[in-house]
Amino acid sequence: MTEPVMNTVGDEEVNPSLPRRKFLMRLSGLVGWTSIGAWLTGLSLASVRFFFPRVRYEPPTRFKIGLPEDYVVDTIDSRWIKEHNVFIVRQPKGIYVMKSICPHLGCAVSWFNSESIFKCPCHGSFFDVNGDVIGGPAPGPLARVGVSLDLAGNIVVDTVQEAGKTDQREKRAFLLKV
Ligand code: FES
Repeated sequence: MTEPVMNTVGDEEVNPSLPRRKFLMRLSGLVGWTSIGAWLTGLSLASVRFFFPRVRYEPPTRFKIGLPEDYVVDTIDSRWIKEHNVFIVRQPKGIYVMKSICPHLGCAVSWFNSESIFKCPCHGSFFDVNGDVIGGPAPGPLARVGVSLDLAGNIVVDTVQEAGKTDQREKRAFLLKV
């Protein structure tokens, strides 16, 4: 068995493992302070984040879409699709507003003027100009939403009111007779 080697400088004995021990102590101190710093930074960021809550800005459910004269009879108007996901349909009997959301699994349908049908790109449902299903797995028609005139004569759409069934959609709230 070998004895640990001790260096002698003058009268002092120097342990060769001391610099290593010092290094390890400094390293553990550094790791400790770094951890505390990271924790404090995280805490500060969380506190700042608290003042900026995560809010989803939904489009308004009630909005104006102009005057009845802005819509041509016997046309499907797609100008509000991007902003509000609705088609404006003007027929001789009046104006109605249909959601562009397929009642099967919620994909966005598109109007194909050359074929006079709405098509859903996801699973191939087809709808006629009234929104009634003419093919595919959709379980019901495209939903119509509330439509009325304000005092200035503007068309007001209310997407909270919804007529999904055919017997509801001829009601005054869903068909603007103009
Ligand atoms: S989501 Fe439209 S057919 Fe499936």
